[in-house]
Amino acid sequence: MAKKTKAAPSDAARTASVEGFVLAATRQRTVTRRLLAWFDRHGRDLPWRRNREPYRVWLSEVMLQQTQVERVCDYFVRFLATFPDVHALAAATEAEVLSAWQGLGYYRRARQLHACAKQIVSQHAGHFPNTVDELSALPGIGRYTASAIASIAFERSEPIIEANSRRVLARLVGYDQPLSGSSTDLPLWEIARNLVPKQGAGLFNQALMDLGAMVCRPTAPSCHACPLATACTAFHDGRTDELPRMAKPRASVALDEVALVITDGTRVLLVQRGDGEWWTGLWDFPRAAPPLGPLLRVARREGRLLGEVRYGVTHHRVRVDVVQVATERPTVVDRAFPAFAKEPAAVKWHPLSRLAQLAMPSPARRIAELVVPLRARQS
Ligand code: ADE
Repeated sequence: MAKKTKAAPSDAARTASVEGFVLAATRQRTVTRRLLAWFDRHGRDLPWRRNREPYRVWLSEVMLQQTQVERVCDYFVRFLATFPDVHALAAATEAEVLSAWQGLGYYRRARQLHACAKQIVSQHAGHFPNTVDELSALPGIGRYTASAIASIAFERSEPIIEANSRRVLARLVGYDQPLSGSSTDLPLWEIARNLVPKQGAGLFNQALMDLGAMVCRPTAPSCHACPLATACTAFHDGRTDELPRMAKPRASVALDEVALVITDGTRVLLVQRGDGEWWTGLWDFPRAAPPLGPLLRVARREGRLLGEVRYGVTHHRVRVDVVQVATERPTVVDRAFPAFAKEPAAVKWHPLSRLAQLAMPSPARRIAELVVPLRARQS
């Protein structure tokens, strides 16, 4: 489906929506000076900050898109050791990239990272472009990531808004409209644009993120330790616990599924997720939600319940019954199970002993863990 494109707001509309939240020039200078001095003393020593190579900045920003800093640190170091530069990454197979990404989740990021590396090698001679527009044209690089790379790696005066800096800025200027974390938060981007310095934007942006993570926390912020407290509207008005105002999240939907662990003694039948599905390219157990087709109804009735796995994906809360079906006639299964994938070639027997090496989404990995005791009994 084609993506909807939004008309850019007019300059007048932008100005109106940020009016009242723009800091005077002297207050802006004070904020920048204090923030940078604080960052110099208290900024976090994170592995991707050892130098400003665009490849490192890009890799870390993509990893950090949906994953906590603490979790990304080890992955970043290992990934960099496996793929030290954009050429190494572009030359890898997709299976190698997914395997190095395993455990970080949101595997679409890994596939786009790989596509982006290939494009940088084939279209940019291995060099990252340095403007937001050119960066945004690359796979997997949205407005936030493009601005982060442009400011951190190339010192361009570009603003960024992510969860931590959004909170700092909203409190600093007293922005009290509901925020969604999406493109409708445009006024906050404009406020950030007004504030980001002409020089030192990369440090300024990272300092905002660190201040948000360490001091200006969502609850019980340490305003006594904040270098911006005396310039902060929310602190002045006693509203740090009210701001930022966040829009109500989308209601979650409960789903029930059945997953089949079909084994022939030494092998297990897996399905490679196709385009347009969750977890494209990863190996998963055949799964379906009721109403179950005839095949699954029989399997559920005659199989053995191994346990239950629960997981969340987008706004869904899913509960999976894991059913084991042992078969001595794998060819019968081969004929029946292409129905489980758009591409029959995506249904394959894998040795049980190789389960640990396959790129799997985390719910499938947890299902696989239920299978390991079964292996122990069989061998
Ligand atoms: N979150 C997203 N990008 C980050 C960065 N560069 N440093 C710390 N936290 C981040």
